[in-house]
Amino acid sequence: MIRLSIALCAALLAGAQEPLALPAVPAEGPSLASALKARATVRLLAGPAPSLAQAGQLLWAAQGENRPGKRTVPSARAKYPLEIYLLTADGPGIKAGFYHYLPSGHRLARLGDAAPEVLGRIKGMQPWIKDAPAVFVVAGDPTRIEKSGTGPALAFTYYEAGSAAQGLLLQAAALGLGAGTAAGVDLVAVGAELKLPAGIQTFMLLPVGHPRK
Ligand SMILES: Cc1cc2nc3c(=O)[nH]c(=O)nc-3n(C[C@H](O)[C@H](O)[C@H](O)COP(=O)(O)O)c2cc1C
Repeated sequence: MIRLSIALCAALLAGAQEPLALPAVPAEGPSLASALKARATVRLLAGPAPSLAQAGQLLWAAQGENRPGKRTVPSARAKYPLEIYLLTADGPGIKAGFYHYLPSGHRLARLGDAAPEVLGRIKGMQPWIKDAPAVFVVAGDPTRIEKSGTGPALAFTYYEAGSAAQGLLLQAAALGLGAGTAAGVDLVAVGAELKLPAGIQTFMLLPVGHPRK
C-alpha cells in the first residue's frame, strides 16, 4: 500500500499521465474500393486536426491490433518493429501535443506539448508538412527483426512502414480527410527533434487534415 502511494506520488510529481483509451474502431464504413479510388496526395490541408476518434482509426489502420497480439499490417516474423507517433494541433476530443500509439489496448500516450509546427525547426522542411493540422510519424527499430538491424531486417522494416502508411492513407480517404506521404525530408533530424528513443529510426511523415478547397 505504502509502495503504491509512493509510486502514485512519484508519477504525479513527474507529470506522468495514464495513456488515453481511444474509442473503439467502427466495424463498418465506406468500401475499400471507394477508399482506393479516393486516395491521392493532398498537400493543401486545413484544420481542425482529426478528432480523437479519427486519430484512433488512422492509428489502428497503421498498426492496430485486429486479433489478439496481431496487427492490421503484416510483420516479418511477427516481430513488429514499427512505432507510430502523432504530432497534432487541437482537434475535437484531442489536445495539441505529441503522442505515441500503443497498439495493445488501442491507447495513446501523451509524450509532450510539441505540435506539427516544431517540424519547422528542421532545415529544408517542406511547408505543407509543418503547416498540417496533424502529422503521423512512422518510425521503427529494425533490430527487433534481427540483431544487426541492417540488410533484410532493415528492408523488411521499410516494407512494413510502407504497408502501415498505405493503411493510414486509405483510412484517411475513407474518412474524407486529406493526407499525404513525405519521406523527402531530413528524417534523422525529425527523430532528433522529437527525441525519439535510441534505436528508433524515422521512415515517413504522413500529414493529415481537411482538404482545403
Ligand atoms: C516514399 C515516398 C516519399 C514521398 N515523399 C514526398 C515528399 O517528401 N514530399 C511530397 O510532397 N510528396 C512526397 N511523396 C508523394 C509523391 O510525390 C506522390 O505519391 C506522387 O506524386 C503520386 O501522387 P499521388 O500520391 O497523388 O498518387 C512521397 C511518396 C512516397 C511513396
